[in-house]
Amino acid sequence: MQNLDAILQEALAQFKRTEDAATLEQVKSHYLGKSGVLTGLLKGLGKLPAKQRPAEGQRINQAKETLEAALEDRRNALKARKLEAQLAQDALDVTLPGRGLGVGGLHPVTRTLERIETLFKSMGFMIAEGPEIETDYYNFTALNQPENHPARSMHDTFYLDDGKHLLRTHTSPIQIRYMEKHKPPLKIIAPGRVYRVDLDATHSPMFHQIEGLWVDEQVSFSDLKGVVSEFLLRFFEREDLKVRFRPSFFPFTEPSAEVDMSFGEGWLEVGGCGMVHPNVFKYVNIDSEKYQGFAFGLGPDRLAMLRYGVKDLRLFFENDLRFLRQFN
Ligand code: DAH
Repeated sequence: MQNLDAILQEALAQFKRTEDAATLEQVKSHYLGKSGVLTGLLKGLGKLPAKQRPAEGQRINQAKETLEAALEDRRNALKARKLEAQLAQDALDVTLPGRGLGVGGLHPVTRTLERIETLFKSMGFMIAEGPEIETDYYNFTALNQPENHPARSMHDTFYLDDGKHLLRTHTSPIQIRYMEKHKPPLKIIAPGRVYRVDLDATHSPMFHQIEGLWVDEQVSFSDLKGVVSEFLLRFFEREDLKVRFRPSFFPFTEPSAEVDMSFGEGWLEVGGCGMVHPNVFKYVNIDSEKYQGFAFGLGPDRLAMLRYGVKDLRLFFENDLRFLRQFN
């Protein structure tokens, strides 16, 4: 049985050459299967003289064991290689730059409101709030505009159920709500959303106002001028800023004025103001012989437009990220 060594060498070489698991199993059965080469040799033992049989049988069995061990090694090697290839394919490149967390930013109007609040707080004002759905009483009546008062038509109101409720047209009703609950001295600003039937480059059906109210025993129109001018100067941080108070009419103040400002060319209206009307004090049971106060209403959207150089108010409320990102 000279050729057993040759068969063994050839089988080992074939195992080594085989590159995939399925082919490896075919090679195996060629040598070790039921009708395989080694099995055939074992079957042929019977033809040998009895004396040679045990030694020859041992040789063949040894060869079988060697082949089986080599086969197992090759199987493991192929398995490991497959796993490695898969890992390489699924690999993460940890050196790639990250995608970022998508951190949000503040809306320019929110930034403006925060800035306004900070400035007024530094002048001793507290922050008050009120509901956006109001009653006719708080939005108009208690602000000295009884039913059929001509000033009501100045506001294009969104009415809800048969006129009992409405979307507040201004932040002034917060004055009433606050004075009902607090006794003077009081010094507040009240920021919030307000609503009117209106839409063009400088008007949106939803916009913002900041109401101001200071009531005490001796609060004068010159305090009003001082506070509003000081606020505008600090807000815009510009030496060339001019502020003007132009006589006007509001039902809830007397006298009343429009606040205009200028950077040198032309005047822009940024709010209204005046001394709280005695009739308003009557509605909230404050003695107007003892107390006086001033109120103002500013348009923070307008202030944001001027500060950031935005020409169209509607841009603030279209939620276009290309626009909004510029402020963060
Ligand atoms: N509420 C007024 C408006 O929306 C603005 C205003 C004017 C508020 C004068 C005031 C004020 O407090 O005194 O047109």
